[in-house]
Amino acid sequence: MKKIIAANWKNNGSKDFVKKYFSYLDKNLEKSPHKEIIIFPPDIYCSLAEELRKDNPVYLGCQNINININNSTLTGGTTFEMLEDNFLEYILIGHSENRANEEKVSLSLKTKLCETMKIIFCVGEDKSDRDNNLISSKIYSQLDDLIEAYNDSMDVIIAYEPIWAIGTGLTPSLKDISNTHKIIKKYLNQKLPSYKEKDIMVMYGGSVSFDNAKEILTSQFVDGVLIGGASLNVEEFTRICNLQI
Ligand code: 13P
Repeated sequence: MKKIIAANWKNNGSKDFVKKYFSYLDKNLEKSPHKEIIIFPPDIYCSLAEELRKDNPVYLGCQNINININNSTLTGGTTFEMLEDNFLEYILIGHSENRANEEKVSLSLKTKLCETMKIIFCVGEDKSDRDNNLISSKIYSQLDDLIEAYNDSMDVIIAYEPIWAIGTGLTPSLKDISNTHKIIKKYLNQKLPSYKEKDIMVMYGGSVSFDNAKEILTSQFVDGVLIGGASLNVEEFTRICNLQI
């Protein structure tokens, strides 16, 4: 199976940053049929990124879509037509930094509405869940939003991002990452038998850097990484993309 390596720039960047980033990728990113590289720029820079990616084998995604659920006007809203118009292929749903604004109902509804995009659906426990041995129950309840919305035509990848590991330099052990990915795959396969366990891709996110990327990417049940801070350094991100794995 392909490995997915994704850069979530969050609220970082400038026109100059985007130009330099893609110019560097253009010269240094090695093409590989075994990897899928995705970049999530801030919305405002997506069309510039689209122009600059040229023949680079790089997909683009939207970090969060402010959807018009009621089909009325929405100040600050975005439509799927706009995403398609900018040739964006992916969307992140349920990132912990956005989840606070998204209620359970709207999250599954949003997933349903996003079905024409490739979805990266984020789950992950916080520190108190971890301290209280509630990792699996927290993750199952988050996956239930996806399960409620799922239909067979959807293209969904899971990103396991423990909240306590985001931006902290801390990561779970490799064994813990593998175990959690395994239970995610099992749970989805049980609840959605048409979604075959072997086809369910789960990426890991939370303090991934060049120093730990190879061991994480080659751990059992890990199909990719979603990188925040380290993806802002294009040299480091490119080195991760070019790893021999
Ligand atoms: P960091 O890599 O900065 O920990 O961020 C992870 C993340 O939130 C990716 O979506």
